[in-house]
Amino acid sequence: MVPEHGSRGGEGAARLPSHGMPPGTCDRAAGANRAIRDLEPNDIRQLLSLQEEAYIPELLESPESFRSKMAAYPPGAQGLFQAGTLCAYVFYFPWRSGGYLPLDARSLVLPGVPDCLYIHDLAVSRGCRGLGMAKALLAKVAVTAQQMGIREYMLVAVQQSEEFWENLGFERGREFEYVEGVPATVMFKHGPSFTHASETSDPS
Ligand SMILES: CC(C)(COP(=O)(O)OP(=O)(O)OC[C@H]1O[C@@H](n2cnc3c(N)ncnc32)[C@H](O)[C@@H]1OP(=O)(O)O)[C@@H](O)C(=O)NCCC(=O)NCCS
Repeated sequence: MVPEHGSRGGEGAARLPSHGMPPGTCDRAAGANRAIRDLEPNDIRQLLSLQEEAYIPELLESPESFRSKMAAYPPGAQGLFQAGTLCAYVFYFPWRSGGYLPLDARSLVLPGVPDCLYIHDLAVSRGCRGLGMAKALLAKVAVTAQQMGIREYMLVAVQQSEEFWENLGFERGREFEYVEGVPATVMFKHGPSFTHASETSDPS
């Protein structure tokens, strides 16, 4: 997913969507019409644009990587749209704790008996941050976990996002380099929802 994998200049080159708002802009009005739906291969261009805006070049994933995740577990690829423009997305899937998914994996094999949900990627367009879109997507993840009877989550935090995750109930695990020179922290959470500890007590 680094440039040589084709995420820049090809499908990844920033383009205006055929309808809706330019990438990076957002109607911040409280009543703005927002919708969450499964991501599809047709959304790849917008996905790559948003990804380039949200991540440092070392962390960019290829179109093939996005496609393989969509194919392996369609409900785990969710986009939040406003007037047809992708404002935020999340990729997650059932997982067996212990290992993590390498960056830009081109194939995803789901475990027969998962014990957690793995949140691989969560990104909000810069112009749309602070509006609760990340939390809206995580609420969707929590519904899946509940339907599957799963109460554990794990992820790899990058770009100094550890505090964001801690505020949602995650605890820090081991620190490592996700790719060379890029620090990351494995994080875990027990419990059904992503509610800030100060908002309510988690009954789990
Ligand atoms: C991290 C990210 C997804 C948060 O998006 P957002 O739109 O600000 O999230 P929300 O509006 O839903 O905010 C959720 C809460 O997290 C808080 N928050 C947001 N960014 C934070 C940060 N970097 N550190 C601590 N708290 C943060 C918000 O204030 C909000 O708190 P509240 O519920 O008490 O009001 C966004 O900054 C992003 O896309 N970053 C780049 C991609 C990235 O690094 N993703 C994480 C990869 S592991």
